[in-house]
Amino acid sequence: MDTIIKKTVEEVFGITDGQFQRAVVRIFPSTPATPKAINGFKFTTDSLRRLMIWSASASIPEGHFDAVMKRNLMIFGPTGCGKTQLLKEFCARTGRPLFRYQCSEDSEVSQLFGTWKLCKPIAKEEVDPEAGLLEKGAQGIAKAIERLAVTVKRMTGVGPEMTFVDGPVLRWARTPNAILLLDEWDQLSPTVAMSLNGILDGDVIEVPETGERIAISKGCLIAATGNTNGRNSAGGNGGSAALYKGVKRQNIASLDRFFVINATYLSEAEEKELLEKQVKIPSAAATAMASLAAKIRTQFMGLNEDAGANGEPLEFTITTRNLLNWGMAWQLLTVTGMDPQSAFKESLNMTLLDFGTAAERKAVLDAWDTIIGDKIS
Ligand SMILES: Nc1ncnc2c1ncn2[C@@H]1O[C@H](COP(=O)(O)OP(=O)(O)O)[C@@H](O)[C@H]1O
Ligand SMILES: [Mg+2]
Repeated sequence: MDTIIKKTVEEVFGITDGQFQRAVVRIFPSTPATPKAINGFKFTTDSLRRLMIWSASASIPEGHFDAVMKRNLMIFGPTGCGKTQLLKEFCARTGRPLFRYQCSEDSEVSQLFGTWKLCKPIAKEEVDPEAGLLEKGAQGIAKAIERLAVTVKRMTGVGPEMTFVDGPVLRWARTPNAILLLDEWDQLSPTVAMSLNGILDGDVIEVPETGERIAISKGCLIAATGNTNGRNSAGGNGGSAALYKGVKRQNIASLDRFFVINATYLSEAEEKELLEKQVKIPSAAATAMASLAAKIRTQFMGLNEDAGANGEPLEFTITTRNLLNWGMAWQLLTVTGMDPQSAFKESLNMTLLDFGTAAERKAVLDAWDTIIGDKIS
């Protein structure tokens, strides 16, 4: 039996808050499906508290509660605030295998659960006996393999066949302590989303194509992410839902099966720290950059009817991903000889601003000039 190690929240997630004093984190032996941790990922107390309760649902002893606890967690919030990374990091640090499925409007039930695939069809029974011998390269090898397959089929009666290939849901269900990540869940068509209600309830999965019945393995959990709450709102934390293309209103019965985190960007102070730690940006510059990011976001979020108006709205935002990339591009530009002031603008333009309209570019650069002034030369 695999050994599960128990550690403290501080050891695993680097958070010292007293409210986690008695919490125990279970660490599973890593598998090839366990993601790799990144250096310096920042957990926040608020989201970690919920991750802990959600993951506890998979390990509470039978009979502890008489009611059934839900094992599903939805994280919704603005683009690039770290929803996907949070789940990857959680898996990386606890050793859990992660099966990620990128949802889209075109997702089909068969992509999630699995489908019949033909390994290698035999196009014709008669093949040129010299096939593959004279041709070089991949083409020659492919022909030679086909010739071999036909010969084997003639001699044994067995040839390439249809095989049922498990989708991410079945691979997850067969792996103990695994997490199924339904990324951008609110993109799914509501019918496909409803087909997941069985697994959200922890039911045995019946595969109609093969007749197999698969019980979800011990310790398995489900997480979903999205830019909206599945009810056409970004929840007041990240721009108007209308800016996120393709999101759908989901059935309330699906939503009911999730615990929820309404995520948002890290605070200005936390992002400053990330810029310093992960990208080695000098303190004064990191302060200015984090401050611009906070300013842009207030205006982006001001677009959201539930967020209240906060100045002139912007139709784009700066994500944590882009804030860090701005810093990395700036580093490389200054190291190769550009003066720091010009490098700030060039790296911001190439990371983000050239996507904006002329007016948006001007608004952001003016704000930057005010923030940076002559603080850095
Ligand atoms: N808390 C954090 N600590 C460190 N880096 C973060 C954090 N949140 C986000 N990032 C950075 O931002 C990037 C984008 O995050 P991601 O999870 O893809 O966003 P989302 O899924 O919300 O759109 C990550 O790859 C990571 O580099
Ligand atoms: Mg994501």
